[in-house]
Amino acid sequence: LESNIIGMKDFLSKKNNLIQPFHVMDILAQAQKLEKEGKPIIHLEVGEPDFSTPKPIIDAAISAMQSGQTRYTSALGLIELREKISQHYATRYGVQISPIRIIITPGASGALLLVLSVLLDSGDLVAVTDPGYPCNSNIVKLLNAQINTIPLSAENDFVVSKENIERYWQEGTKVLMLASPSNPTGRIVSKKELIRIQEFVQSKNAVLLMDEIYQGLIYNEDAVINAGFTSLEISKNLCVINSFSKYFCMTGWRLGWAVVPEAWLGSVDKVAQNIYLSPPTVSQYAAIAAFERESIRQLELYRADFQSRRDYLYSAVKELGFKLNVKPEGAFYLYANSASLHARSDVLVSKILDQVGVALTPGKDFGLANPQDYVRFSYTVEMDKLKHAVSALKKYFK
Ligand SMILES: Cc1ncc(COP(=O)(O)O)c(C=O)c1O
Repeated sequence: LESNIIGMKDFLSKKNNLIQPFHVMDILAQAQKLEKEGKPIIHLEVGEPDFSTPKPIIDAAISAMQSGQTRYTSALGLIELREKISQHYATRYGVQISPIRIIITPGASGALLLVLSVLLDSGDLVAVTDPGYPCNSNIVKLLNAQINTIPLSAENDFVVSKENIERYWQEGTKVLMLASPSNPTGRIVSKKELIRIQEFVQSKNAVLLMDEIYQGLIYNEDAVINAGFTSLEISKNLCVINSFSKYFCMTGWRLGWAVVPEAWLGSVDKVAQNIYLSPPTVSQYAAIAAFERESIRQLELYRADFQSRRDYLYSAVKELGFKLNVKPEGAFYLYANSASLHARSDVLVSKILDQVGVALTPGKDFGLANPQDYVRFSYTVEMDKLKHAVSALKKYFK
């Protein structure tokens, strides 16, 4: 029996071995062990909002369940929700997007898998930034496609520029994946720059896949009045990924969406039917209430809270000796240089956790370009806890 179990490993695909587990999971395991021993841990490693889902959304879910909305929907999602998202684009960003182009998915993760599945053949090249969201490259590898890495310049504070993309572009690249605001850097791509990037991508016969999952979580002065922009304003020939996970505080509801060019709809529909049949029904009914005035009022309060945390943590982290030249404009992350504090950020992160109970994410989860010099702070805990974390870090560095 024993030898049979060992032999089962031989069935695993080679491409599965191309994928790295998240190093932050080791940190989480270490944190959980310490918590079991009774040591309090402050979690600044987790990439999800600590706020609860607004009440109108929860109420809508309960009423959907009670009225028996527990079956599959169409693979592309409920038309009512697609229409709500379309209205949201119109009222918040002044852009008209037909609901037909909006596809509801199981999280942005489901949208990424779906869109990349309809686009990629074996061996196709996909450009991704380094640092960047690690799952993008991993999904590309699972689909037997290849990665063209675009290292972002630390000297330029990880801002994405057309020049940078052009410099590392490999001929034949089919898709460019960008995120704004970005995980892990929190930096945004300006509209002016995005227009230049889209022009470049089109000139190369490639397509831009824009991840706007942190949309709405921006903190510059005019954020409330002018809630940023969506890349959908720029062109009909690009694809946008979004989600209810971050701004809407619905990570566990597993709901996101994609806005795709009309020409892709037939393919997207049939692939969605085959890989997951339908996005989660109760979550879709709940998400219709995400755009109600009361939900948005709560979410804007959360956003203001994130902004205060960012402002506090940005100064505090610099005082601790981390290097960070610019205040990131969005998401809920600071990607700080720790090179003058330790030669290896993964070792530093582990020591900090062990000695003063603060959990961070090492840079090596986000790419291969000098990750040992970086750590990611998530400001997804309340201000009091954030202040405790900073005091603990002060103690550590003393
Ligand atoms: C940049 C980015 N894209 C996509 C995702 C996937 O999110 P979800 O599947 O919860 O919508 C995440 C999650 O952290 C992310 O940071």
